[in-house]
Amino acid sequence: MNDDSGRATQARKVESRVSKSDYEIKTIGIIGAGQMGSGIAHVSALAGYDVKVFDINDDQLKKAVAGIDGNMARQVKKERITAEAKDAAIQRIETSTALDCMADVDLVIEAATEKEEVKRKIFNDVCPIVRDDTILCSNTSSISITRLGAGTDRPERFMGLHFMNPVPVMKLVELIRGIATAEDTFAAVRTVAEKLGKQTVSSEDFPAFIVNRILIPMINEGIYTLYEGVGSVSAIDTAMKLGANHPMGPLELADFIGLDTCLSIMGVLYEGLADSKYRPCPLLVKYVEAGWLGRKAGKGFYDYSGEEPVPTR
Ligand code: CAA
Repeated sequence: MNDDSGRATQARKVESRVSKSDYEIKTIGIIGAGQMGSGIAHVSALAGYDVKVFDINDDQLKKAVAGIDGNMARQVKKERITAEAKDAAIQRIETSTALDCMADVDLVIEAATEKEEVKRKIFNDVCPIVRDDTILCSNTSSISITRLGAGTDRPERFMGLHFMNPVPVMKLVELIRGIATAEDTFAAVRTVAEKLGKQTVSSEDFPAFIVNRILIPMINEGIYTLYEGVGSVSAIDTAMKLGANHPMGPLELADFIGLDTCLSIMGVLYEGLADSKYRPCPLLVKYVEAGWLGRKAGKGFYDYSGEEPVPTR
């Protein structure tokens, strides 16, 4: 880098620090009230942000608020938060089935299904509603941030903000810049993540970023291990829990994440990196075809209908 370009970079950095205050974020809009959207609403409201949660399905919104209430009640019981903090946080959460509720938010976090066409449609619909200076983030676990951002009217105010499940418990958030993401957008979003009490890591915009690039092929390999008859469901999970000190075995974790999400991330890795080592296990495909999507469906590698989960193979 020559001196001039070095000075220019420095000047841009100073300029971005100065303009950072333009992006002070007070209200967060969350699109999608599934397990990730609910968790993001939970931590955002507890951190003092006003939160608006949109979902097309009113029952899903009711379920999300009840879930957040229950999880916060558990935190109160364990003296992690006070009853007053819980009540104030619940008060800060508004829900709506009308996307217009995003009209005055400072930051939108999209946490819808892990399907590119769904996410693109959401950003297409929300762009005319939000203010010009609103920052848009996607909680995508694998899809190109550059491509999603390019489909909006503000690629410079667009980036990836990837939470881990369960959001209130997991300490990490991945920050992903698209090629056009402005430095002050990145700084403002990192500040929000830190205010949510999360540790951040920055990942380049390549398929599945850091955590899922490593974690989901490990889960896929766990499913191949089952498919090839190397071990049973419980043998594989016990082996990885006790043999590698993982809090959950790969099949239990697959059910927890959702088998549809695991499959779609493997698809993004397979397509995006064009390497056969990322081919999804046919057994994973079969489970998804059956609608056995894991915990959220009541059945996956385990059946959750009884007191204790029972292996389905
Ligand atoms: N909300 C709030 N608190 C929750 C919670 C929730 N949804 N779920 C669990 N907790 C809390 C519990 O209250 C408990 O709190 P204390 O420590 O204060 O007592 C703590 O978490 C542990 O919970 P449990 O005792 O009920 O259960 P556990 O010890 O078996 O832990 C777990 C549960 C934290 C989920 C643990 O099994 C674990 O860490 N599993 C791995 C999770 C993981 O790998 N997540 C990443 C998935 S990948 C991802 O998310 C990326 C992607 O894009 C796919």
